[in-house]
Amino acid sequence: MIGIRVSGAVDEALVARFLALAAHEEAVEVVFANPALATYAQGWGRKGDSALVAEDETTHKVVGMCWARFWTAEQHGFGWIDEWTPELAIAVEPQFQGQGIGARLIEALKVELLSVSMLDSQGASFRPERVALNVRADSPAVRLYERVGFVRVEGSERQNRTGSISYNMVAPL
Ligand SMILES: CC(C)(COP(=O)(O)OP(=O)(O)OC[C@H]1O[C@@H](n2cnc3c(N)ncnc32)[C@H](O)[C@@H]1OP(=O)(O)O)[C@@H](O)C(=O)NCCC(=O)NCCS
Repeated sequence: MIGIRVSGAVDEALVARFLALAAHEEAVEVVFANPALATYAQGWGRKGDSALVAEDETTHKVVGMCWARFWTAEQHGFGWIDEWTPELAIAVEPQFQGQGIGARLIEALKVELLSVSMLDSQGASFRPERVALNVRADSPAVRLYERVGFVRVEGSERQNRTGSISYNMVAPL
């Protein structure tokens, strides 16, 4: 059985491990060698950082993770929309893919984000009302994202670091 939960064990190293999977990189070192990727994991645990893990109930091994960060105009990920919209990233280990874990992780993270309270750059308190992500146009993950409520942000198409096209998607919380 795979359980979905908030875990105190989530740290920069664990986020980086799943970030490498999400970015289709073999090694965690590649994540830290690329500032645009590293920013998704570095200094994990700052205000607003939210993560859920999929854990094997028997072995307690983490087999999937979905996490989200709030960004600023100065420092942000590929899926940047605005400072009020956190960006989600997700990966499930290959042998556990296609079993519904990704969908469960995203739905649970959306619920988790509803209880986050943040201050914006003007010092105003807010709660997020939507969540964003960035995806390669040819990724099979687009089908999953559409199923859980994400829609493509028109005009957000950009060439990604591998030369193909990625775009942003956004879902209401
Ligand atoms: C995308 C991913 C997190 C989905 O998790 P999952 O547990 O397999 O998802 P679910 O079982 O809930 O849903 C299956 C859906 O995931 C997507 N999917 C399945 N295998 C995938 C893969 N190897 N790569 C990307 N997406 C995949 C498809 O949309 C699939 O829907 P379909 O059955 O209609 O084809 C997981 O497949 C993964 O980690 N893939 C590799 C990394 C990646 O692509 N991350 C997203 C970067 S934007």
